[in-house]
Amino acid sequence: MIGRGLLAVGLLTASTSATVYFKENFDEKWESRWVVPSKWKAAEEIGEWAHTAGEWFGDAADKGIKTSQDARFYGLSAKLAKPFSNEGKDLVLQYVVKHEQRLDCGGAYIKLLGPELDQASFGGDTPYQIMFGPDVCGSTKRTHVIFNYPEAKGEEKNLLIKTDVPTRTDQLSHLYTLHIMAANNSFNVLIDGESVREGPLEESWDFRPPKTIPDPEQSKPADWVDEEMMADPADVKPEGYDDIPATLPDSEAVQPEDWDEEEDGVWEAPMVDNPDYKGPWSPKMIPNPDFKGAWEHPHIPNPEYSPDPKLHARATEVTAVGFELWQVKSGTMFDDIILTDSLEEATEYAKETFWKKQEGEKAMFEKAEEERVEKEKAEREEMKKKAEENGEPFEEGDSPFSVSDMEITEDEDEDDEDWEDEEEEEDENSFTMEL
Ligand SMILES: *[C@@H]1O[C@H](CO)[C@@H](O)[C@H](O)[C@H]1NC(C)=O
Repeated sequence: MIGRGLLAVGLLTASTSATVYFKENFDEKWESRWVVPSKWKAAEEIGEWAHTAGEWFGDAADKGIKTSQDARFYGLSAKLAKPFSNEGKDLVLQYVVKHEQRLDCGGAYIKLLGPELDQASFGGDTPYQIMFGPDVCGSTKRTHVIFNYPEAKGEEKNLLIKTDVPTRTDQLSHLYTLHIMAANNSFNVLIDGESVREGPLEESWDFRPPKTIPDPEQSKPADWVDEEMMADPADVKPEGYDDIPATLPDSEAVQPEDWDEEEDGVWEAPMVDNPDYKGPWSPKMIPNPDFKGAWEHPHIPNPEYSPDPKLHARATEVTAVGFELWQVKSGTMFDDIILTDSLEEATEYAKETFWKKQEGEKAMFEKAEEERVEKEKAEREEMKKKAEENGEPFEEGDSPFSVSDMEITEDEDEDDEDWEDEEEEEDENSFTMEL
């Protein structure tokens, strides 16, 4: 009896012993906790972080940080109270990203950094353990999930996920969550609480050598028939086929009256296409009865392969989090960062922050969009009127705003490739936005 009682208590404690290693909601004192690198780039190349709720928000008093200058590098890092190693533990990294500017090219990812970090010189070359979050440039739009894996076979130790994970590029806040599960070495990436990619870590990154290799003892038999189709032996070239000329002298042409044979030479009719000419002969193709299908190289277990039971332990010794970004057009906001070993903890934090603000932000954004569209319409009308008064033609292109700027919703954006790499159609549908 006593034994059972103790066990129950033990389980209870296990489920409530979540640790939060880092949490940041960017209150008024945020600058005392974060360091902008002074030795990474020349001062004029470094962009300034604004402390603001943004242009649309759910709570004016709840601010985040925002990139505020175009074509700049942005650096920022903050230390954890105590280091985090996730061996034998889950890892949950979650934060909120909002691209207010209609992001064209820029990063918005976060990095987990180790003890070698010097905050003053933190930048793109600083080693990291995990890099997670949106990265957009032109048609390349993805949510990076990169793990440093010192045991990787190749030169490159920072491993990208093999199939790109989609991202969101609209102008509203989105919650990005990376969950690494220790119990079964698997992962889940969620956007706004919905999974966009999950599975075993081993299969989604090239951590380990492949489990099987083509059997070097076997090769394609010499008599293997590769050709699926063959020329029909019953189809022979008709008699006289090659005698049909491609062109003929034009029978309707007549020698001009003023033709002078002495000066112009003997008159010849111009050549025209021969309607009977069918091109070079080729036999009809029929299925090859000897075709056995493509030869498949038999696989054998790879002697170089071994599993890594600690694949999940990608945070070896995280001591800081940081942003190290390049943005062509500024206006990306970050807020509500949490690093913990418990998904419940992160979900709870999102409830208190992201989800509370979402409705208000969306309503405010929609209102701002309506006003913007109205204003643009009025300005276009004004331009058109002026053009007419001056007797000049007015074209849509003369508008101060491009057509794509006028599109309000993501759905209407035909170039939108956000979900191109999505494997499952249902996922795509479930993320269709109705703004
Ligand atoms: C790993 O375990 C979690 C929690 O039990 C489960 O939701 C997930 O599907 C598992 N992943 C794999 C790849 O088995």
